[in-house]
Amino acid sequence: MAEVVIVPSAAEAGEIAADAIAAQVSSRADSVLGLATGSTPLTTWKALAALSLDLSRVRGFALDEYVGLPAGHPENYRSVITREVVEPLGLTPSLVRVPGDDGPAQGAGERYEDAIVAAGGVDLQILGIGRTGHIGFNEPGSSLASLTRVKTLTQQTRIDNARFFPSLEDVPTHCITQGLGTILRARHLVLLAFGSAKAAAVAAALEGAVSAGTPGSVVQLHPRVTVILDEDAAADL
Ligand code: GLP
Repeated sequence: MAEVVIVPSAAEAGEIAADAIAAQVSSRADSVLGLATGSTPLTTWKALAALSLDLSRVRGFALDEYVGLPAGHPENYRSVITREVVEPLGLTPSLVRVPGDDGPAQGAGERYEDAIVAAGGVDLQILGIGRTGHIGFNEPGSSLASLTRVKTLTQQTRIDNARFFPSLEDVPTHCITQGLGTILRARHLVLLAFGSAKAAAVAAALEGAVSAGTPGSVVQLHPRVTVILDEDAAADL
């Protein structure tokens, strides 16, 4: 069941999400966090940094990664997570994993699933949602039971993410992402969305039919979901 919180600003949403993370980490210093990239979680990381917690024992698993960007490329999600999460929050780099960071793409999905299980599972997963309704990089058509695997990005998502690259041609065509089934195994999902461009995807995810055509709708199958929206993203509910 989803608890839906609607607040006036992304900054306030970030404070609520940061408080949820703080509560989780205060219950266990080596909690396992599911980390998301994109612009949506930025206010969460900012609010969390302002709490000045010791997060050095926290373990992290990123949702997704591009395939084909060289190591050290500023837009691969390992770099993004390092820059936006690990360094400002004082996480320990070796405790943070990104899909495919341990070798070839072949078999990387299974290895990532094994690593999450070995860590005891994700305690709290931060999620954004794409305009196509994707969570992680699970585009429409993703199996509801899917696990971490290599996927093709939709053209819409490549266009949406082109703002981070010199041109659309530079945006990778493939990714490796936790599956919808992987995400559903996390014990607490915290989904954030801001702005009118997300309103349709949010309404479809929360109030539409649960279907592979609307990947975000899997949150309806999860027993513990906190959805934090600004008023524009909530406009179609
Ligand atoms: C990106 C990421 C997702 C993210 C979504 C929304 O492509 N792979 O994890 O949630 O799309 O991005 P943003 O938060 O920038 O709107």
